[in-house]
Amino acid sequence: MKKQLQELKEASLSAINGADSIEALESLRVKFLGKKGELTAILKQMGKLSEEERPVMGQLANEVRELLTASIDKAHEVLAKKQLSERLERETIDVTIPGTPVIIGKKHPLTAVLDEVKEICVSMGFTVVEGPEVEYSVYNFDKLNTSEGHPARDRQDTFYFTDDDRVLLRTQTSPVQVHVMETQPLPIRIVSPGRVYRKDEVDATHSPMFHQFEGLVVDKGITMGDLKGTLNTIIKRLYGEDTVTRFRPHHFPFTEPSCEVDVQCFECGGKGCRVCKGEGWIELLGAGMVHPKVLEVCGIDSKEYSGFAFGMGVERMAMRRFNISDLRLIYENDLRFLEQF
Ligand code: DAH
Repeated sequence: MKKQLQELKEASLSAINGADSIEALESLRVKFLGKKGELTAILKQMGKLSEEERPVMGQLANEVRELLTASIDKAHEVLAKKQLSERLERETIDVTIPGTPVIIGKKHPLTAVLDEVKEICVSMGFTVVEGPEVEYSVYNFDKLNTSEGHPARDRQDTFYFTDDDRVLLRTQTSPVQVHVMETQPLPIRIVSPGRVYRKDEVDATHSPMFHQFEGLVVDKGITMGDLKGTLNTIIKRLYGEDTVTRFRPHHFPFTEPSCEVDVQCFECGGKGCRVCKGEGWIELLGAGMVHPKVLEVCGIDSKEYSGFAFGMGVERMAMRRFNISDLRLIYENDLRFLEQF
């Protein structure tokens, strides 16, 4: 038995020294010291020994157990350290390597201007609504007092979806006025931004698709004074307190009276220059008092209620705002252009 213990000691020590991983080491622990291990198997023979031999063997067995336990623990420690340092080696982070740059996008100049006007209008009590881009010609024209044969329809030619010309790509955001008046309770205070389409050749100031920003107020006792006050407030918040405006008579089929609103040229202060083409003024938007016929078509009593409306071109506003000289730049999505804003 002494010999067996001796052999076990030697065999296990060399196995422990040869173990190259913690897992291997742990299975050695089970193999030699476990309940069904080799040492236990040897100890089971103790009963066969004489009274004198038993304590001697017992002590020897204990020594072997302690030696093996200590060796395994020690080897475990060494291997754990080695594993850790290998992992640290593998996972070192070089904090001096430049990071991968994160490209942060920004608002398109058109969106920036649009968000700004929207915010101004919302702060004044307007609600933002949207309307369809594919529209019935009845909404785009007829209900806006522009019936078949009206010259304004020629100037706003567009894409028609049906042979009977009933469905088209809207040429203006004004049809949203009709949808709102037909469906929403009075009083009405809405703005509506969106894409519009016209048969136009592309050049520095024209595009077959562009954006408009429509506004509509309907209530009892609304006057041209409300129109002027509201538009002056919006324009001054947008372009600065000292912006000078001019309301000039005009004609739109769906407003009466109608006007166009100009701002004094920022560049020359009204003297006339290249930017304002010698005019001293820059046209900003169309507006007017909602035509009684339009109110009536939408089921609103024009004797009791009145309203004003306005519509502006968003591209034109962005171009003025950011000094963009060619409309085409706005749609090309060239980062060299967009990153300037
Ligand atoms: N829809 C007009 C256009 O495209 C712009 C406009 C003028 C809108 C007067 C209005 C308005 O709401 O009252 O030329």
